[in-house]
Amino acid sequence: MSGGIAAYKAAEICRRLMDAGATVSPVMTIAAKRFIGEATLSALASEPVRTSLWGGPEPIPHTRLGQSADLVVVAPATARIIGSYAAGISSDLLSATLLATRAPVLMCPAMHTEMWEHPAVAENVATLKRRGVHFVEPGVGRLAGGDLGAGRLADPADIVDAASTLLRSSRSLGGVRSLHGVRAVVTAGGTREPIDPVRYIGNRSSGRQGYAVAAELAARGALVTLVSTVASSLDAPAGVDVVEVETAMEMLASVEACLTAPGSSADLLVMTAAVADFRPAMSSDQKIKRGSGVPDVQLVANPDILAGLAQARHANNASGPLLVGFAAETVRPGGPTLEELALSKLHSKGVDVIVANDVALPRVGFGHATNAVVIVDRDGRSVEVPLTTKEKVAVAVVDAAERILLTRSLTS
Ligand code: PMT
Repeated sequence: MSGGIAAYKAAEICRRLMDAGATVSPVMTIAAKRFIGEATLSALASEPVRTSLWGGPEPIPHTRLGQSADLVVVAPATARIIGSYAAGISSDLLSATLLATRAPVLMCPAMHTEMWEHPAVAENVATLKRRGVHFVEPGVGRLAGGDLGAGRLADPADIVDAASTLLRSSRSLGGVRSLHGVRAVVTAGGTREPIDPVRYIGNRSSGRQGYAVAAELAARGALVTLVSTVASSLDAPAGVDVVEVETAMEMLASVEACLTAPGSSADLLVMTAAVADFRPAMSSDQKIKRGSGVPDVQLVANPDILAGLAQARHANNASGPLLVGFAAETVRPGGPTLEELALSKLHSKGVDVIVANDVALPRVGFGHATNAVVIVDRDGRSVEVPLTTKEKVAVAVVDAAERILLTRSLTS
């Protein structure tokens, strides 16, 4: 805990972590103690609260805390602690512990809107995200002094969910952040192709499946950029950079920029987005009036982003990112199975993995919290994931990608 009014919510976070089975070692800055009593935290955690590098029974408390932690959660994280951590400055027990740990770190900022939006704070947050630090972004709401705005500590339940996701994934992999250092780009949501300033051609994609894939990749330590058409309606997963786009052409430009960024080109692309295959040839810059008759909207084809990248990779002697596509299919009785449709798309697009969903089935695909998929890959593997949450589908998708990335790194 660092020193902000939201420190009082750390008590609930602590209790929820304990309920989830964690052992919590509370560390408070001197300023945090002004907002909540040590006795509250030590009673909840059944552990002494540590506040200082000096004078306690342990000679080097920061290294013991940092080395023994499976996860470090900073809630609330003030502008000061974010700045010290980004700059690598250890001025107290909390900042020293952050530098002394190799465990995943989850920062939960809370501060006034002006501070949260200050370019210095934004740059420090971006620096930490680039280094793989995870964030639960603050929400909008009432702040100290009665102001309303962005900067309010995220809901304790969301913080504990993010902590559990990080712990689950690092534990299930024996404590190893299996995708540490891997750069991944994920696309999410349906593209919107404007007809005029108020109307567009779109589809029913909510972005939930893409966000779940991005969260799972980040939880395994990957550096994730999420190219999203729904950035204003879904919260960014912890530790993920979000680029907002609207149309297929904007998505293409952003994906290409991420894949080819000098010195930081991506190793993996997961195209979960539902990209419109067609767009209006012309988009009116004025609203088309009803009185001017039914408009004749001519369509032109959008580029196939995934197939284009696969072709470019082929032309480049197969060097380039691992390409994972999704396929929205509707299986007809007596026709090809979902697996056959997936294999056909795998070959027609020239990609490494296809995740196919039969979007005509109830609770599957567009807009739902659940999905059911078949995952096929170039090496002939086929994995069926029956109806489950999109988060669990994301685990299976990332498992499939990780297996191929690992094989590549062993054979290169
Ligand atoms: O967003 P949700 O509500 O959570 O729903 C998830 C989902 C149903 C959108 C997702 O599971 C899914 O199926 N995404 C792919 C949808 C789609 O566009 O399928 P497709 O078969 O038309 O395209 C195949 C692949 O090519 C996709 O990876 C797509 O991103 C890509 N594509 C398609 C067209 C195009 N012009 N460029 C592309 O890159």
